[in-house]
Amino acid sequence: MRVLSGIQPSGRQHIGNYFGAMRQHLQLQAENEGFYFIADYHALTSNPTSEDMAGYTLDLAMDYLALGLEPEKTVFWRQSDVPEVLELSWILSSVTPMGLLQRCVSFKDKVAQGLSPNHGLFSYPVLQAADILIFNSEIVPVGADQKQHIEVTRDIAIRFNNAYGELLTIPEERIIESVAVVPGIDGQKMSKSYNNTIEIFEPEKTVKKKVMRIVTDSTPVEDPKDPDKCNVFALLKLFADENELSQWQDRYRNGGMGYGEAKKRLAELMIEYFAPYRQKRAQLENDIDYVKNVLADGAKRAKAVAAETLAKVRKAVGYGG
Ligand code: ADP
Ligand code: TRP
Repeated sequence: MRVLSGIQPSGRQHIGNYFGAMRQHLQLQAENEGFYFIADYHALTSNPTSEDMAGYTLDLAMDYLALGLEPEKTVFWRQSDVPEVLELSWILSSVTPMGLLQRCVSFKDKVAQGLSPNHGLFSYPVLQAADILIFNSEIVPVGADQKQHIEVTRDIAIRFNNAYGELLTIPEERIIESVAVVPGIDGQKMSKSYNNTIEIFEPEKTVKKKVMRIVTDSTPVEDPKDPDKCNVFALLKLFADENELSQWQDRYRNGGMGYGEAKKRLAELMIEYFAPYRQKRAQLENDIDYVKNVLADGAKRAKAVAAETLAKVRKAVGYGG
């Protein structure tokens, strides 16, 4: 199956991104034809500086490669290197009713967070539909927050096919049932927008510092504690094996354990978990040319597929005849 997903270069990736999206992308590449891209056209809608755009794009590329993306097998590119999607996006705009976009929760959420509602942000789901449809994607693994965008994509594809013939593949979403929402150090959903993240490739010292700052309640050391209400335990679940986890569960319930102890172990486990990837990341930082070559090669392969779909679409709507 062809699996496609895009990731915005909107900041440094954190462990919520890893367990909620990146890990599944990487797992899916083994048995599928993976098409993964850095969604830098989409990221522009939040008006980053040019330095941030360029820096976060390379960071994200290095993150994926360090974490195990296999560039010989999986097609991995930067969205803006294949501008064919913009032409398809425009063509799809004309079969997209305004109401469909006006109902999109993600637009409303971003405006509520204080982003100025530019036109790009409003038409964001149409470009996302173009990303998916131009590569004949069959499966689109995304977090629950993106479900509506995949429904919009299907709706747009059906409208296009009804108007111009059965040309576009209707994709299926694969909602990533992540280990639930990963909490940030303040207990809210971990997110770049809340300044509560622990980055995947943060220096080890900072990981320790941040873990020690994770918000917990004020139950005294000697009292029993509820692991299911604890942010530290929620994170331990991601890193500790079952055996160790059940020991922590008992220690929470029995009392006599301070949160500091659990935090110390959590920091250790986190650092251990990402250690091999950290080493690979450091190698890549010393070989930026390699990273750029991977993206250039991915763009070439992606472009070949995109150009083919676009040619069919252009013909179907009556261009270039
Ligand atoms: P952020 O909120 O940090 O800006 P994005 O919105 O760019 O993250 O999310 C990128 C991907 O990571 C999405 O698929 C999203 O579902 C997933 N993701 C982000 N934060 C979390 C979290 N705290 N827990 C689980 N998954 C998350
Ligand atoms: N909107 C997605 C997000 O913020 C990123 C994205 C852009 C995407 N184009 C896509 C995801 C196509 C899946 C398919 O996470």
